[in-house]
Amino acid sequence: MCGIVGYLGPQNPKDIIVSGLKKLEYRGYDSAGIAILDGGKTKRVRAAGKLKALEDKLLSEKFDGHIGIGHTRWATHGAPNERNAHPHQVNGVSLVHNGIIENYMEIREDLLARGAQISSDTDSELVAHLIAEEIVKTADLYKAVQKTLVKIRGAFSIVAFWEENPHQLVAFKDGPPLVVGLGINETFVASDVQALLQHTNKFIYLDDREIAVITGADIKIFSAEGVSISKKSVELNWDPQMVEKQGYPHFMLKEIYEQPRAVASAMAPHVNTEDFSVKLKNVGFGSPVHALDELESESDWKKTQEVLKGIERIFIIACGTSSYAGMVGKYLFEQISKIPVEVDIASEFRYRNPVIPNKTLVMTISQSGETADTLAAIRLAKEKGATTLSICNVRSSTIDREAHGHLYMNSGPEIGVASTKAFTSTLAILSTVAIAFARTREVINQKQEQEFVRALLAAPSQMEGVLAYDKYFDEAAHRLKKYKGFLYLGRGVSFPIAMEGALKLKELAYMHAEGYAAGEMKHGPLALIDENMAIVMLAPHDELYEKSISNLEEARARGAQVIAIGTGDNEKLKSISQYYLSLPPAHWMINPLLEAIPLQLMAYHLASSLGYDVDQPRNLAKSVTVE
Ligand code: AGP
Repeated sequence: MCGIVGYLGPQNPKDIIVSGLKKLEYRGYDSAGIAILDGGKTKRVRAAGKLKALEDKLLSEKFDGHIGIGHTRWATHGAPNERNAHPHQVNGVSLVHNGIIENYMEIREDLLARGAQISSDTDSELVAHLIAEEIVKTADLYKAVQKTLVKIRGAFSIVAFWEENPHQLVAFKDGPPLVVGLGINETFVASDVQALLQHTNKFIYLDDREIAVITGADIKIFSAEGVSISKKSVELNWDPQMVEKQGYPHFMLKEIYEQPRAVASAMAPHVNTEDFSVKLKNVGFGSPVHALDELESESDWKKTQEVLKGIERIFIIACGTSSYAGMVGKYLFEQISKIPVEVDIASEFRYRNPVIPNKTLVMTISQSGETADTLAAIRLAKEKGATTLSICNVRSSTIDREAHGHLYMNSGPEIGVASTKAFTSTLAILSTVAIAFARTREVINQKQEQEFVRALLAAPSQMEGVLAYDKYFDEAAHRLKKYKGFLYLGRGVSFPIAMEGALKLKELAYMHAEGYAAGEMKHGPLALIDENMAIVMLAPHDELYEKSISNLEEARARGAQVIAIGTGDNEKLKSISQYYLSLPPAHWMINPLLEAIPLQLMAYHLASSLGYDVDQPRNLAKSVTVE
């Protein structure tokens, strides 16, 4: 999960590359580097640590030239130090790489046997050696890259240039994302559109096994086998400002505050605020992503309904936070649409040779649309004949492009590694789909549909109110640091939120936390309870409230320190909790959207009070594009 930026054009590449890498630092941040071809010689500067270390080094460097590449690294092979930082350079070939070369050991041995001078511990440098060997024969970078591809296995994307041809960048994608940005007489390449939004909103998304040969403003796309491919460009309406912090201390806090608006924009295309009905807009079953906007909505909705009528069960497949959204989806579809749902984490699904019966809809959830395990899962589902539907935040991402049907979180760029607005937007989309399914299968009538839609439409303003816990946890966080561990408990549709709350604390504050179904406590976890263990109990006023209270009393009786989240001014919960947070009364379908916010804020403020990097937690990356 590294960040790649390339530039070819009339401008000096340095600032374009560095500012692009800044937007990609969430993808990996243990070292960084830049290489620019300047007067026939490549000038390369690399630094261990975050991008700031590279920027400091660049202050004393002067660059000229019109072609360059840059990289921010998430180490897979070789320690995160300057020697292993990209770009790698061999005999005039400079290269940056994202992904994993699976047969790197045999390549390394072959190269050493041929006397290659290998200067790093990375798999990436070996690719530069192979290209440099080939280019001696081909005297052409594209052909040298093409001949190298047959020698390497794995999931990887690369961008390279060669000193002998200062007018050409070559990019190859197979796995990790790579997008070509189309400027006026200038061309960009990056791992993610966010790196390029300030320069262009026109992009060509490379698909797997595709090579882009960029010569000046001319862009040719070929398959790895050399077959010419014509691809449509996509215009994105994302405003570059959306990617900035806009006054917040961290992207994550900005994105927590954006949630009400993000949830509203997630459901907006699909809900009618006049008659409180749901019609899924431009899902485009069977249409390519670039054609979705041209679809006629009415006929597309009819086609979507035909697909939904033929579905008898749903599999929801995702990773991490997205998988917890999927777990909420199970409750939504089974309780609203009366359709059986199986939820699985993608890294298990892809290897357990799943039995996917006929008439199954496999839904994937992925903010980035590039998560390797989820991508493998959707490919497996398609191989097994399932209809697939993806919920993504990044339009035209690989998973989005490979799915049969397309839905979007619509929450704008999510930069913080810890997912927040994409998670709650996904819950809104899942609720919308569940209602659409229920109407199509005629298990709810129009009145019930309107009730569900009204509850959904009320959610953003209810979420606004809950954001007030930002101040609460800013003050309370330092008192929570004393606990040795946290047990997050919930029942029913709150159980997945307990899992998500625990993950937030783990990935941000590096504290031990576990999410558990509250009913499971007496089957073992109760033994964990003592005064050092904090219980975070989700106990909204729903059908399972009484059960949750008795679970809480079991834990409290054993000395647990309780942080309870309930509905309204709840004297009972207050009396058995050290901390009580109240949520506004809401439909059971909306409680997860409301419960998520204080849990996000608690993890955020604990991590901040511990001095940790909230936007770029250690060892993690925003998009896990390798398995
Ligand atoms: C969530 O805070 C984490 N960043 C992580 O669990 C994430 O949800 C997971 O890697 C899935 O990412 P995706 O939604 O982009 O597929």
